[in-house]
Amino acid sequence: MTSMTVNGEAIHYKLDPETPLLFALRDASNLTGTKHGCYSGDCGSCTVIVDGRAVLSCQLTIAAAEGADVTTIEGLSADRAHPLQQAWASEQVSQCGRCDPGFIMALAALMRATPNPAPEQLAQLPNICRCGATPRILKAVARAAQVAAPLAAFAPPKAEQSNSIRFSNGSSIEDQIPPNDS
Ligand code: FES
Ligand code: FES
Repeated sequence: MTSMTVNGEAIHYKLDPETPLLFALRDASNLTGTKHGCYSGDCGSCTVIVDGRAVLSCQLTIAAAEGADVTTIEGLSADRAHPLQQAWASEQVSQCGRCDPGFIMALAALMRATPNPAPEQLAQLPNICRCGATPRILKAVARAAQVAAPLAAFAPPKAEQSNSIRFSNGSSIEDQIPPNDS
């Protein structure tokens, strides 16, 4: 069993420890916002944040993420309030949408440390858009950077403190305890 925190919730994956984090998130946790693109580390569509850093989840086994704090696009903000998500909508970035979550997660990690990233920093991201939306993505980054201070302070919401333990089949420990009829 491999344990980690995903979007603020303790998760115990009963999977082969060599399973890529991407598949654990998508197939066991049903967090399908994280996209499967190339599976070779070349497209960035699978990017999630692990312990504060942008990581290609197709290249990380769950064993390597043991004990980590993982944030996916579903956990980035409540009600899609993150400035990058807002800017994405304002600039109508999305075309097919496959690259969007990975771009947003990579940029969210980058812009927490560097609220107004230089073009060279953006060019170093592994993320690519096959639909040609890159000019709109750059506009969205510029728009989000206008709220640089709030962006720097923006942290993924902490889930309510709970003793809930969720397993990779979706059940929780509460599901396995019969209700007390008394
Ligand atoms: S699917 Fe992970 S980098 Fe392309
Ligand atoms: S919108 Fe289709 S890959 Fe970027």
